[in-house]
Amino acid sequence: MKIAILASEGAPYIKSGGLGDVMEALPAALARIDGNEVVLILPYYKKIKENPAYEVELLHKFNTTLGWRKQYTGVYRLKNRKDGVQVYFVDNLYYFAGRPGAIYGDMDDGERYAYFSRACLETLAAVGFIPDVIQCNDWQTALVPVFLNALYRGIFPDTRCMFTIHNIEYQGWAHSDFFDDVLGLPWEWRGRLDMSNSVNVMKGAIESADLVTTVSETYARELMYPYYAHGLDGILSDAAWKLTGITNGIDVNTFNPETDPALPAHYNADSFVTGKAACKAALQAEVGLPIKPDVPLMVMVTRLAGHKGLDLLRYIARKLMMQEDAQLLVLGTGEAQFEQFFTTLAEEFPDRVAAKITFNLALASRIYAGGDIYLMPSKSEPCGLSQMNAMRYGTVPVVHSTGGLKDTVPPADENGEGGLGFTFQSYNGEDFHAALERCLHLYHNDRTAFRALQRRGMQQNFSWDKPALKYMELFHRMSGK
Ligand code: GLC
Repeated sequence: MKIAILASEGAPYIKSGGLGDVMEALPAALARIDGNEVVLILPYYKKIKENPAYEVELLHKFNTTLGWRKQYTGVYRLKNRKDGVQVYFVDNLYYFAGRPGAIYGDMDDGERYAYFSRACLETLAAVGFIPDVIQCNDWQTALVPVFLNALYRGIFPDTRCMFTIHNIEYQGWAHSDFFDDVLGLPWEWRGRLDMSNSVNVMKGAIESADLVTTVSETYARELMYPYYAHGLDGILSDAAWKLTGITNGIDVNTFNPETDPALPAHYNADSFVTGKAACKAALQAEVGLPIKPDVPLMVMVTRLAGHKGLDLLRYIARKLMMQEDAQLLVLGTGEAQFEQFFTTLAEEFPDRVAAKITFNLALASRIYAGGDIYLMPSKSEPCGLSQMNAMRYGTVPVVHSTGGLKDTVPPADENGEGGLGFTFQSYNGEDFHAALERCLHLYHNDRTAFRALQRRGMQQNFSWDKPALKYMELFHRMSGK
């Protein structure tokens, strides 16, 4: 099957969050399946273009139409990827390579990704790859099924399109003028994209794609409810017949405590007691916490965004730090209110709390390895990958039972039996605190049971092989091939 995967980020080239991880591992997993040809298209951001590690050749130059605009498109082929995925970068200085900033966050992001979505279809045509299915991701490529159906059926008569929601909070809202000015679509498409007299590109994708997926089974069900859907519950309920949840995997080669080059010591499910102890001591030293092997180290690697449940942690943090002999380490950047909170907390409890307000993938690995307990009290979580990374590195998760957290962390009882971590059902600080206390209690009072729980987490198969087969099932269903 010919599969084109389109996204605004993909590791190792460029990544801001979980989408980037998925765009590294899913294409590779699909390419491992016999008979598949997989193409991945990403914007040619400055950071990628300037990285000498990526050998490229310029294949095509043309203009992409966007409303009244004709914008340059250069198609670069990556020459040195080894796993069978063919990567193309869409080059445009004005929208991508000439922008100094990070990936997202410019005033004209709507126009940038509308351009990218259309340029992807032009790229596929230019390189002569007529896919059986296109899989596109989140609002940045949400216009692909719209453009495909409205303007490109001549070139791609039988191509089917899957739209995958990784995060429904960001939907691609724009002023209603965006429809004519930037998209330049035939007027009969206005209704598809219109929401509250504005343009909502994610709504357009949900209504235009052949199938819609999201990144866990529970989140697919949750999306029917206003609490989770950020205004799209009605649209998704109408589209329920074509909505499926496929729980993400993780890249088990990258995230492997036996080989991870970022770690000071390596270990597996048999040797983790000594291996993790070495990683913990090194981590405590690295972040400036006292080296105490028997004090539980609670860790978090996260974007500091509200929906990650940081308000719950903020609510219980001081009480927890005063009552418990425990350490807390947080790594991440994001909203100023949380950056400040953790910085202040670390100043208040210098022997117990460390806050690393930065984005550092190697340190993230060392935290998965050196921690004892991984906190993830997200208010909502489409899938979540770091709880799986944590378990693979033998760190016990304490999570809010929502979305992908519910699907990947079955609850253990107070003896640590029957599950993989500690969970709470309703989103409030007391319940989070209680779940955390159950975990700490087990750590202090029954280390053998705690270790059994760590080992079970490490033995889970979180690889992409199974989810990739589920994607294939849907691709077959869509394309009839
Ligand atoms: C988004 C979601 C996260 C998910 C990731 C990859 O970042 O917030 O839950 O794991 O996408 O699908």
